[in-house]
Amino acid sequence: MQHLVDTNDLSDAQISQLLEDAKNFKAKRPIQLLRDRLFMTLFFEPSTRTRSSFEVAAKKLGAAVVHLDPSRSSTKKGESLEDTFANLCAMEPDAVIIRHSENEAPGMLADMQMTTVINAGAGNYAHPTQALLDLFTMVEHFGDVEGKNIAIVGDIVSSRVASSGIRLLTRMGMNVILVAPEPFMPESDLPQYDKLEDVIEKVDVIMSLRAQLERHSTPLFENYNEYARHYCVDHNRLGKRDILVLHPGPVMRNIDISDAMLEDSRCKVLEQVKNGVYMRMAILKLLLLDS
Ligand code: CP
Repeated sequence: MQHLVDTNDLSDAQISQLLEDAKNFKAKRPIQLLRDRLFMTLFFEPSTRTRSSFEVAAKKLGAAVVHLDPSRSSTKKGESLEDTFANLCAMEPDAVIIRHSENEAPGMLADMQMTTVINAGAGNYAHPTQALLDLFTMVEHFGDVEGKNIAIVGDIVSSRVASSGIRLLTRMGMNVILVAPEPFMPESDLPQYDKLEDVIEKVDVIMSLRAQLERHSTPLFENYNEYARHYCVDHNRLGKRDILVLHPGPVMRNIDISDAMLEDSRCKVLEQVKNGVYMRMAILKLLLLDS
C-alpha cells in the first residue's frame, strides 16, 4: 500500500511518471481507469481548489467520492481522528484524502495501514499535491526546470506550499530564493532577501504566497497595504520581464498580486488550478493502479 504524505515518498521515476501521466490526461480524456473505486475526503480545514479538484479528478477516472464534513461529524462529539479514520476505513474506501491543521496527521493515519492516505495539506509542513502540480505547470512552460531560478515570496514560514515546494523543486535542480519580511521568513539555508527588487533580474519564476492571517496568533502587520507596497507582484515590479507568476490560491488581490497582473498571460494561477486536476488524476492512478 503506497501513501502520499510528502513528495519524499515518491521515487524519481514516480515523479517522472506523474508528469508524463498528467500531460497525457490533459491532452486526451482518459478511459475510466478507476471505475468502481471509492475515495473519501476528510477536510478539517477549508478548501476550494484541492478538495474539488480531487473530486473532479476521481470522477474523470470513473471513481466515486464521499465527503465527510468534520464540522458536522462525530468529531464534534469527541471522537478522535484515529477512530474517525478507522470507522471510515470500515466502509472500505480505496483511499482517504485528508487535510488537517497538524503536520503529523496524514503520516499518523498512513501508519495505521488501513487504506491509502493522501495528504491534501497538513499544517505548515506539507502539501505534496500542490508542489507536484506547480512542478507540472513549470515543466509544461519550460520543458526542463533544472537550473531555473524561482523566488518564493510572502508568508513562507506559515506555508505548507512553500515547505513542500522547497523540498521538491530543489530536488528537481531548481535554485530556490526566499523573499519575505523578517516575520514571514523561516529558518533556512536557502538564499534570503527582504526585497523583491533585489532578485527580480535573476528569476525565471515568482511564486507568490498569501499572508495566512488565520495562522498568526497576533497580526504580524498593522496594515497589509504597507506589506503590498513591497511584495505585491504587479506590472511596476515585473515590467516586460519574461517571468512566470504562480500562486497556489486563494489570492489576496492587490496584496499578493495586482488585479492587472492576474489578467497577464505570464500569470498562471488558473492554469495551476486546471493542472491540479490532471496531476491529481495522475496521483490517483499511481497510488491505486501502479504501486
Ligand atoms: N492551493 C490550495 O490548497 O487551495 P485550497 O485551500 O483552496 O485547497
